[in-house]
Amino acid sequence: MHIVIGLNLTNMNSFMKRTVIILLCLILNNFSQAQSGSIASKPLMGWMSWNFFAEKVNERELKEMATAMINSGMVEAGYNYIFIDDGWQGGRDMKNNMIADPVKFPSGIKALANFLHERGMKLGIYSDAAQLTCAGYTASLNFEEQDAKTFAEWGIDYLKYDYCNAPADSNTAKQRYQKMAEALKKSGRPIVFGICEWGERQPWNWAASVGGQLWRTTHDIRDKWAKKPSEKWGLGILDILETNAKLNEFAGPGRWNDADMLVVGLYGKKGPSGDGGGIGCTDIEYQSQFSLWSMMCSPLYASNDIRNMNEATKLILLNKEVIKINQDPLGIQAIQKLNDSSVSIFLKPLVNGDYAVAVLNKLSRPIPLTLDFSKLGLEENFQIQDLWENKHVTKLELKKQMILSHQTKMFRLKKTKS
Ligand code: GLA
Repeated sequence: MHIVIGLNLTNMNSFMKRTVIILLCLILNNFSQAQSGSIASKPLMGWMSWNFFAEKVNERELKEMATAMINSGMVEAGYNYIFIDDGWQGGRDMKNNMIADPVKFPSGIKALANFLHERGMKLGIYSDAAQLTCAGYTASLNFEEQDAKTFAEWGIDYLKYDYCNAPADSNTAKQRYQKMAEALKKSGRPIVFGICEWGERQPWNWAASVGGQLWRTTHDIRDKWAKKPSEKWGLGILDILETNAKLNEFAGPGRWNDADMLVVGLYGKKGPSGDGGGIGCTDIEYQSQFSLWSMMCSPLYASNDIRNMNEATKLILLNKEVIKINQDPLGIQAIQKLNDSSVSIFLKPLVNGDYAVAVLNKLSRPIPLTLDFSKLGLEENFQIQDLWENKHVTKLELKKQMILSHQTKMFRLKKTKS
């Protein structure tokens, strides 16, 4: 947006001129802050290609996915991004401009962006702060401004910027991320900047100040509940939860802890989710991931095959009440009030004095739900809505409930007058 200011300074004395100039600077500064503040003011929602397609991403199937997102009601529910992950790149042309793989993307990325924009959707893309990406494709080091300009020309709305093949030290990471953040700003298009260095350099301490709106807090998720002690790598839902849950103080509108993709509905099929022990989860476990990621204000990136979703997956991904908790305008990441070997309890303040409460049973057997609101500091009277049963419950009814193994119960507490 451009602002044109018509002002005649010639008749003013120097004090007045200075005052007017200072005021103008303040207004413009606030304006640009408000502009940057409005970017990613809520956790992003969409579908990310990596877990299902890995490098075999292509425009035909991405369009199919987008169409399925529209037809299944996902776009209406808020999932408006398609995030292309690694594997789209086709190198550089004679002028060193990045190009898409002509076989995978015969119409080019701009055409895909247009296709999505025409349908009220947005497009995310992927690069890396080195010469090559994690999967070995062309990346952006030393081409930051040129690539940012290309992305802006294509109509890109988000950039996931990875850190494979880059030096391990924090200073270099900060410099490289800042360089790309500045290049994106210079491109003139509001492009959300997602920092992906897997939490190794504690990005929650610096990522926002170098220009990121979100940052991955851990290594990659795999389609499993938890890493077995015998496994060297491959994090599951529970492993990521343990790290991400403690970072609540760093999150807020325009600055989010990114707990990585949802594995909901993958059932251990295809893509890299099958490596690192990604054998699949139960629907109860998928429901838990969705609940906990929503409580933690993590971006909600589905990564399953939207074209072939079963009813259980749809019920999870399309639970509007749970999505509302993730997208609550206050943008407060849930506080972990209790975390022992059997149970985790989370509390998330919401607009209008409401709260969301989530209780996870980590054990491999069902246990009674013990939820003492006064221990959570909630002394007022609340109307309690069970967000998975989709009904109101009384405190007495809550006491009779059981939580299944690996299940998360989730409630919205609405303040009542009496
Ligand atoms: C890294 C990232 C993943 C994915 C792959 C692509 O591992 O953490 O999310 O983007 O690279 O190569």
